[in-house]
Amino acid sequence: MTAKDNRDDMLGRARVKDNAALEAYYEELAGFETGALWTVANDIEPWEPKPKSAPTIWRSRDLRDKVLASLDLVRPEDAGRRVVFLRNPMRKDVSACCGWLFSGIQVMRPGESAPAHNHAASALRFIMEGAGAYTVVDGHRMTLGAKDFVITPNGTWHEHGVLEDGETSMWQDGLDIPLTNALEANFYEVHPDDYQNSNLPMDDSPAAWGTPGLLPAREKWGAFYSPLMKYSWDKSYQGLLDFARVTDGDPYDGVIMRFVNPQTGGDPMATMGAQMQLLREGEHTKAHRHTGNVIYHVAKGKGYSVIGGTRYDWEEKDIFCVPAWTWHEHCNLAEKDDAVLFQFNDFPVMEKLKFYREQAYPENGGHQDVTAQA
Ligand SMILES: [Fe+2]
Ligand SMILES: [Fe+2]
Repeated sequence: MTAKDNRDDMLGRARVKDNAALEAYYEELAGFETGALWTVANDIEPWEPKPKSAPTIWRSRDLRDKVLASLDLVRPEDAGRRVVFLRNPMRKDVSACCGWLFSGIQVMRPGESAPAHNHAASALRFIMEGAGAYTVVDGHRMTLGAKDFVITPNGTWHEHGVLEDGETSMWQDGLDIPLTNALEANFYEVHPDDYQNSNLPMDDSPAAWGTPGLLPAREKWGAFYSPLMKYSWDKSYQGLLDFARVTDGDPYDGVIMRFVNPQTGGDPMATMGAQMQLLREGEHTKAHRHTGNVIYHVAKGKGYSVIGGTRYDWEEKDIFCVPAWTWHEHCNLAEKDDAVLFQFNDFPVMEKLKFYREQAYPENGGHQDVTAQA
């Protein structure tokens, strides 16, 4: 079967030519909160996804000082969370960074702590800088080191802070608040005791569940989310280096690995997934596109990505997004070093709802024409 050219005037699409009688009919229908489907069908059923978000980059060199400035302007006790959020220029109405995903940069100074709360949206963090920061998720206390990835599954009590003898710390937050709101399922609660009182040993989660290939033999973990809540940079990066020795890598993503719930092999949380990928010296991937929105954080190195024909140069701590069904390819500019991209996404939702689709860029040897530079 050969696919036809997609035209809105073809058999199978709505192609009614309006006339006076129809206009009068539409008006009559509107009076009863109804409408004729053929007047909206082609808009609400596009041939393929039309992402609302714009590809966007947020560079650390532009934002770091502005995030630090918030330290002197608000207290975490008043702000709830001292976060500068990343607002997609096309998604101001829902405060989204990309698609239905939210992201921001949180900053705390030594001795500060933000009160415990929980919400129906899932959350994760990727640590950017600092020392002595900690998070507590349902009583599990974890130290946060640079480039560690930490999850806060939906519905869990959580709070963050920085120890007195620590350093001002900064991390990227990722949540699916816009998705949860779009589904009209969001709840928010403040902890009755303000802060969690936990006797669990520090870093019990990674100590028990963070060894590759080994799980506690007797412990039972009944929750729907991962018992491993912190994925340390050292282990993740070493994993990529090891894998790089034995694989050619993926044509579109280089050496890419996904973060999993070690007990199930599935995603660590129900609605958001995370992956980390290594681009070898000078590697330039081919372009593809897929459903699902992705927010990248440059964990190491420098290079650029071509997203929808525009080149976005990036370096460590920059954040950029790839909206759904938008062509993208990545390039590591270093001749003698690797580059590493951390990403989080809404793939678990796409997969559970059977919406995931992927397509390779068919022309030009798999590379887009670069028509602009951001
Ligand atoms: Fe939260
Ligand atoms: Fe991709």
